[in-house]
Amino acid sequence: MKMFSIAALAGDGIGPEVMREAIRVLRAAEKKFGFKLDITEAPVGWAGIDAVGKALPDVTLTLCKKSDAILFGSVGLPDRDPTIPKEERPERAALLRLRKEFGLFANLRPVRLPKALAHACPLTRERQGDGIDILVVRELTGGLYFGRPKKTEDLGGGNARATDTMAYSTPEIERIAHVAFRAAKLRRKKVTSIDKANVLENGVLWRDVVTRVGQHYSGVTLEHMFVDNGAMQLMLRPAQFDVMLCENMFGDILSDEAAALAGSLGMLPSASLGATSGEKTFGFYEPAGGTAPDIAGKNLANPIAQILSAALMLRHSLGLNDAAAAIENAVQQSIEAGNRTGDIFNPNEAGARRVGTREMGEAIASALR
Ligand code: IPM
Ligand code: MG
Repeated sequence: MKMFSIAALAGDGIGPEVMREAIRVLRAAEKKFGFKLDITEAPVGWAGIDAVGKALPDVTLTLCKKSDAILFGSVGLPDRDPTIPKEERPERAALLRLRKEFGLFANLRPVRLPKALAHACPLTRERQGDGIDILVVRELTGGLYFGRPKKTEDLGGGNARATDTMAYSTPEIERIAHVAFRAAKLRRKKVTSIDKANVLENGVLWRDVVTRVGQHYSGVTLEHMFVDNGAMQLMLRPAQFDVMLCENMFGDILSDEAAALAGSLGMLPSASLGATSGEKTFGFYEPAGGTAPDIAGKNLANPIAQILSAALMLRHSLGLNDAAAAIENAVQQSIEAGNRTGDIFNPNEAGARRVGTREMGEAIASALR
């Protein structure tokens, strides 16, 4: 039987309750498809700070290093931020640190609006066109989030000056561009590369390198778009997009915008992948939404993003394609059966039933069985 070890880091806010449902669904998949997951949970984020004083405890990092993949919940509780220095806060000290530590340069965020949820999309049916099915490919270890210098200088007299550095090199752009083109080959064969080449040096280099990489993929259409226009086009004509290739910050922003089109941020999974060595791709799988402290612990959160992230883990790191597709189908079935957490519930929708986090997880697990 195939065996894999998984580090499950639930983190803060709604993290633990959506992680519980993802594990429930993984256990159902194990039985059905005959593989075994050795899942070890460890603290991260404020949970790590509360346990041992660090957002990324040493035991957690060690566990991650010996695992085949990381299933991550979410970290960060903005209300508690003022109590510690910014470098120690979970977003930087745990999330960005893990991305860098494991070289997770490729972030895949598939945004799909299920037909049954057309009502949850803020756009009119006409604007939804033939349907929304976009893969945002976001560069994850470069650009403004990691560039140096990064600092705030005290200028005296109550004034300060903050600097962040945006820098990309040719190889960094090449490798993420290859990810986007390879993904497009398996989809609708179109890449829209997002940049700000009319203003930024980074944008000019990005456009040149992506164009060059694109020449190796003759069946894939490449189009370039300025990021401001891209943000607008997502609202006006989202059906035009197949793969959107973005640098780190543009991808961060546009993926949240795209997620809103899919009904809710609670529906958006993500995979963060490093280089493939041999057959294996180490990966980090997390919902793209945050900790949602306002609804944490109330059985209100939508567990679908976490469950779909677990499916991406089976596909990209464990090579369990059938099990991954079965989980995605089970999610689809559970939505078609009318199960709705609060974020995708509309009282006027015929046949819709408002359910909690646990009930949604159970519905998906039983659809899988
Ligand atoms: C995301 C999040 C993170 C990011 C934050 C929490 C640091 O917004 O994964 O999109 O900016 O990458
Ligand atoms: Mg974000």
